[in-house]
Amino acid sequence: MTDFKTIAILVPGRLNPDTLTELEATFDVVRSPARNVSDLSARDRARIRGIAEMGGVTADMIDALEKLEIIANFGVGYDVVDTAHATEKGVAVTHTPDVLTEEVADTAVGLLLNTVRELPRAERYLREGRWAGEGPYPLSGATLRGRSVGIMGLGRIGLAIARRLEAFGLTIAYHNRSRRDDVPYAYHETLTGLAATVDTLIIAAPGGAGTEKAVNAEVLSALGRTGILVNIGRGSIVDTEALADALESGTIQAAGLDVFPNEPQVPERLLGLPNAVLLPHVASASRHTRKAMGDLVIANLKRWFSGEPLETPVPESRKAGLVRRRQD
Ligand code: NAP
Ligand code: 8YV
Repeated sequence: MTDFKTIAILVPGRLNPDTLTELEATFDVVRSPARNVSDLSARDRARIRGIAEMGGVTADMIDALEKLEIIANFGVGYDVVDTAHATEKGVAVTHTPDVLTEEVADTAVGLLLNTVRELPRAERYLREGRWAGEGPYPLSGATLRGRSVGIMGLGRIGLAIARRLEAFGLTIAYHNRSRRDDVPYAYHETLTGLAATVDTLIIAAPGGAGTEKAVNAEVLSALGRTGILVNIGRGSIVDTEALADALESGTIQAAGLDVFPNEPQVPERLLGLPNAVLLPHVASASRHTRKAMGDLVIANLKRWFSGEPLETPVPESRKAGLVRRRQD
């Protein structure tokens, strides 16, 4: 039986409170509130064997921890972890797919409805007492009826969004790097090509170099005057300046965003726009789903240190064979 209490796990910065409580009851947890490993004592740095985190891990952090074996990322998107460096150093990386898929898809549909039908603005109108004073809230300029939806990133979450929107009677198309052979939706090889054939673009792709500013002025122009953009993927995927220009000039109609390039900072220009619905990265943020994500973080750590196969290694770790710890 593995004595987990002898194993030091670093928690840099914040972690979901339910997960932290469970982690502290199981392992020997070392905290680094400022996320700076050089603030740790040499003794702590020399004994840390795992990291549980939700804010990212750099190459420097990996290099500073000579006994590091595994990074358990709290989230399915792991663009904030230097996975290439971890893999090179033989450090396994895990993430939390599937357990959040339905919650995130629910939020994407909620954000789409709020954006198209201006529900947050209508609620503000009521709270400001304007309904009684000025009369009914003005008719919303857009509707979901008759819209065609394009999804960038038809993976686990993208597909869960597509299935929901099919039930709304909407047509669906998508853009991935590769075509899927298990879906009835039209495939577009390029994002601009997809944007040109739909009026509603939903982003559910990962961040990182491959998608950086993929939603640019050209894509927004192709989406057009009645266009709606919803982003629950990563803020880095959208060129924020191009989006603010498009929202100001009427190049597209409105946008709903759950994610931003430099969170928790939100670009000033977006804050001032009435046709932008802005959420503070809450797509998976129910206590239920965050607990399920945390349970998976801890399950992966326990399996690793027990010499069992990891439940959810990232594809890079799987490819490198970093899926099971060789026992001493
Ligand atoms: P997934 O199953 O791996 O799906 C990702 C999809 O994106 C795949 O279909 C993939 O297809 C496509 N893709 C990857 N790189 C691409 C590129 N360069 N261009 C176009 N398409 C690309 O992952 P998931 O579980 O659905 O999660 C997707 C992402 O959602 C996460 O990585 C994360 O960033 C985001 N997310 C956000 C929240 C939130 O709170 N807002 C919560 C959870 C997840 P190909 O491989 O064929 O390209
Ligand atoms: C989390 C997410 O809020 O899973 C993801 O990729 O973006 C969200 O579910 C985030 O990872 C918490 O750090």
